[in-house]
Amino acid sequence: MALLKKRIPLYLAAEEQDGLRAASRFNASLMDFLRPHVVEGTSTEKLDQLANTYTRDHGHIPACLNYRGYPKTICTSVNEVVCHGIPNTTPLKSGDIVNVDITTIVDGWYGDQSETFLIGEVSAAARQLVQVTYDALFVGIDAARPNGTVTEIGRAIQTFAAAAGYSVVREYQGHGIGRDFHQEPGIPHYPQLSSNRDLLRPGTCFTIEPMLNIGGWETRLDQRDKWTVRTLDSSLSAQFEHTILMQEDGPEILTLTRSGPQRGFRF
Ligand code: MF3
Ligand code: CO
Ligand code: CO
Repeated sequence: MALLKKRIPLYLAAEEQDGLRAASRFNASLMDFLRPHVVEGTSTEKLDQLANTYTRDHGHIPACLNYRGYPKTICTSVNEVVCHGIPNTTPLKSGDIVNVDITTIVDGWYGDQSETFLIGEVSAAARQLVQVTYDALFVGIDAARPNGTVTEIGRAIQTFAAAAGYSVVREYQGHGIGRDFHQEPGIPHYPQLSSNRDLLRPGTCFTIEPMLNIGGWETRLDQRDKWTVRTLDSSLSAQFEHTILMQEDGPEILTLTRSGPQRGFRF
């Protein structure tokens, strides 16, 4: 999510939009398939294997596997892990929060989304963080207007998160998406003024994926695996992500699930 491949934003024609829609729909079905398995006692490695098998059985390609050397199919970010957590054999335990971030390539198009799951009985503080992060995603979506600027998304999310007492991660952003995983425009979740130049023209496809922390916004990269991103102060972090297609009349969410939380959900 950090390095953007293409400098020119992609505007998708109607026929192309169907490709992206289909990829996002499949990706959402994968999230629904994994959902019953994201429980106490299951390891994130097991979730990774399930995701890999489901994707291949449907004739599609796991986008993360071997992406810039990433070793697994999905990202699983537990507790103080902000993003890009690598699945491992440790069972999930009651009280954990885990973000499951999945991306699939379907006929050359990318679908990308994530959810944070509560495992067993979690603390009130963790539940509240997950709730506000979920709501912040929709605050961001609602701030995305046809021909508006990308800055408005981050401004809305930052204002909302700060009012709830949380910080917003800055080093990792949402991104344009299409036939490439990560492309222009970058979608910061705080008001970065350079994003004033990026207009959300109808046909623009991008992700919104706010990461909120109980403590400070700063992060640190694991120096052994070079992937796992943690909060600098080891405070809890949560994240939700949807892939969005801007239409003439407003944002269309492409990665809606059938059995997961919907707008307004209370955790
Ligand atoms: N799915 C992440 C995103 O939302 C990117 C993961 S890249 C990986 O942009 F290599 F870590 F898998
Ligand atoms: Co993304
Ligand atoms: Co993602």
